[in-house]
Amino acid sequence: MSLELSKRIQRLKTSPIRKLTPYSEQALAKGKKIYYLNIGQPDIETSNLFFEGVAAYKGKILKYEHSAGLKELREKIKKYYEKYNMNYNIDEILITSGGSEGLQFTLNSIFDENDEILIGEPYYANYNSYFDVLNIKCNAVRTYAENGYHFSSLEELEKNITKKTKGFIFSNPSNPTGVIHTKEELDNIAYLAKKYDLYIISDEVYREFVYGDNKCISFGTYKEIEDRVIIIDSISKRFSACGARVGCVISKNKAFIESVYRQCQARLAVPTLEMIGAIALYDVADNQLEKYRTMYEKRRNFIFNEFKTIDDIIVKEPEGAFYSFVKLPVENAEAFCIWLLSEFDVDNETIMLAPGEGFYATEGLGRDEVRICYASDENQIKKAMNILRQGLKEYRKIKQI
Ligand SMILES: Cc1ncc(COP(=O)(O)O)c(C=O)c1O
Repeated sequence: MSLELSKRIQRLKTSPIRKLTPYSEQALAKGKKIYYLNIGQPDIETSNLFFEGVAAYKGKILKYEHSAGLKELREKIKKYYEKYNMNYNIDEILITSGGSEGLQFTLNSIFDENDEILIGEPYYANYNSYFDVLNIKCNAVRTYAENGYHFSSLEELEKNITKKTKGFIFSNPSNPTGVIHTKEELDNIAYLAKKYDLYIISDEVYREFVYGDNKCISFGTYKEIEDRVIIIDSISKRFSACGARVGCVISKNKAFIESVYRQCQARLAVPTLEMIGAIALYDVADNQLEKYRTMYEKRRNFIFNEFKTIDDIIVKEPEGAFYSFVKLPVENAEAFCIWLLSEFDVDNETIMLAPGEGFYATEGLGRDEVRICYASDENQIKKAMNILRQGLKEYRKIKQI
């Protein structure tokens, strides 16, 4: 007899963002320095307000707090949304352990096995993990670097909808492509959601990271479809507080919120001190958030100029978030990423990138692409891009491509 794991978990693949960790560990063991451009970990110091808030905690017992999250935190989030002209009551906001838990609860609530979800590919790779566990099938609409990863047309989206499609999901601004979808694209999605009775899961964790003339419109501003819209939000990126694990699910759909709340009850509560810290973070001044945004915009400009000096790559200037999705002049980007870690260095330094394949639903796509995160300072980006430039030259020489 042999012990078996569930089919559901056997479908779950290793995250492409962390897949190459064994190779990076070997590189570290050899004494190499690595620039980690594979993960979306901001380098900005978390505001002291968080730590001061936690230090001022006077409770004597760390109790289970309310399953929906601390009322004061939900009130802060309500106020934050008012700044963007969106009005949510606190009972329309549920605190979750990061946006990640919010996403999982949302998908659990909406999708049965073999139901389908409309999505533009490439998309945030962890969605695949959630889809795989729940056996949700992707109605994937391909988007292209050449078109800045925008949706090509209403028809293109529509022809991917079937009787089994129950919802649409995207991140806007997007991880991994940096696209910010236009009002016209959002209008098309809203139109289709009404026509085909779909939920819209709008993952807006990068809302503030918008560059140039681009504007990020929240689906929370679409009043006529408010009962279909679910917003996923988080303090992770906005306040550079990824380790706090505080996010939320927001919706005006009562039955949906009630269903998520039941899941919140089953996991009891989100950590108390992290919520206390999060309450304080919502007091970070707007001009401070604007400073973060400007800094990321400078980095975006910087990395994009660096890209221009690398031969034969295809990349569009990212409009938001802090990622670029880059087509490389190699056949197999994953093999190249492994080679960078295990066989290449410049002055004993190398880079770690996220291979593109795991950001797609369609088999075979993304093989020559990588996601590059630029949430690090310009000095590091410069060194990392030099390694990429030299690495590509050397690799193409060896492989004769
Ligand atoms: C698009 C997107 N959604 C959700 C998340 C989850 O973030 P967290 O669970 O830290 O809130 C991330 C994290 O990288 C992300 O990029």
